[in-house]
Amino acid sequence: MYDIDKIRDDFPILKTKMNGKRLIYLDNAATTQKPQQVISAIVDYYSNYNSNIHRGLYKISEKATQKYSESKEIFAKFINANSIEEIIYTKNTTEAINLIALTYGEKIIKEHDHILISEAEHHSNLIPWMQLAKRKKAHLDYIKLNEQKSGLDIESLKEQMEKKPKITAIFHASNVLGTINNIKDISKLAHKNNSSILIDGAQSIPNIKIDIKDIDCDFFVCSSHKMLGPAGIGILFAKKSILADMPPLFSGGDMIKVVNKYSCAWNDLPWKFESGTQNIEGAIGFRIAIDYINKIGVEKIRKYEKDLMKYFLEQTNNIKNIEVFGPKNIDERVGIASFEIKNIHPHDIAYIFDKQGIAIRAGHHCAMPLVSELSKEKALARISFYIYNTKQEIDESIKAINKVKNIFKIE
Ligand code: ALA
Repeated sequence: MYDIDKIRDDFPILKTKMNGKRLIYLDNAATTQKPQQVISAIVDYYSNYNSNIHRGLYKISEKATQKYSESKEIFAKFINANSIEEIIYTKNTTEAINLIALTYGEKIIKEHDHILISEAEHHSNLIPWMQLAKRKKAHLDYIKLNEQKSGLDIESLKEQMEKKPKITAIFHASNVLGTINNIKDISKLAHKNNSSILIDGAQSIPNIKIDIKDIDCDFFVCSSHKMLGPAGIGILFAKKSILADMPPLFSGGDMIKVVNKYSCAWNDLPWKFESGTQNIEGAIGFRIAIDYINKIGVEKIRKYEKDLMKYFLEQTNNIKNIEVFGPKNIDERVGIASFEIKNIHPHDIAYIFDKQGIAIRAGHHCAMPLVSELSKEKALARISFYIYNTKQEIDESIKAINKVKNIFKIE
């Protein structure tokens, strides 16, 4: 059973107020809140065994090292990777994509080659490829949006694949539309066309079961902070066979085995990609976040999120002059919905929500090409749910939408 009261109780921030009102946090696509268990694990590390990893020959350092490795083991299991050799911790999703573009991409992309992304990518899965294409005089190709602008056009995907891209990089769930891509089929198609494939899983992994072997992608990237964990820790999964041949991006301490004055030998996987002191407390907190998600169960989280989204779509359906973007079918979307109220700037919407104690995001959502296609203002308001949100909070949001309309005298 999904015990929402117990879950909400675990999140101290949900008891706080914003502008004198009980906080209603609906900006989960930007970052999720942290349960007490995650906060306590970080406090415990700093209070009881703060030390560096892989370096200290003493008990508390051994404990920190073990906890850091355990975090990777738990995550490897969470996505069904073969081992921690395939799991590299980065600063965030963006850094993970940059790491691939600047090492693997730099190595395999040559002049006139093709790199394939879509018109709905977050800037983090666009700019690194744009820059790589510029450096290499390669082509950056786009999979178009479908006619309804609710997701990708499958014909366009097939057409672009015929250009035989060397790398395809695509989102799993859109941070604007909420749309879920069929990444298993896209990976298959990419491999059939000899393209390697990177999946941006930042918005999917919090609520969709990820089985990396089943998806069979080459790279999968995501962030801890979007799945109850601390910020400052991102994850790059890459197939071992690729990582073995990939040069490190950053060099320095801990990523080497042997160093002499004029040469060195890289450390084993995954450590050759993690130079310098890492985000130890981040890894420790992240592990507890995964435990928390596992305890509820990703399938239950997905079902709960779908219920909330269904309710939101039903409620907004009855309101005039509001457009909610993304697929109508809740099976095709995660709990993210961008919307527009006719003739009202999204920043005004977010401002009025804020005064009601409701946190939502408004703007271009780091996806300017997509948001410019969807909106005249080149900006949208966005609501996004997670495990602790409730239908009552959606009711409050509907009241806030009506308030916006009243203030601006919109029918
Ligand atoms: N990528 C995050 C968002 O969509 C920050 O809000």
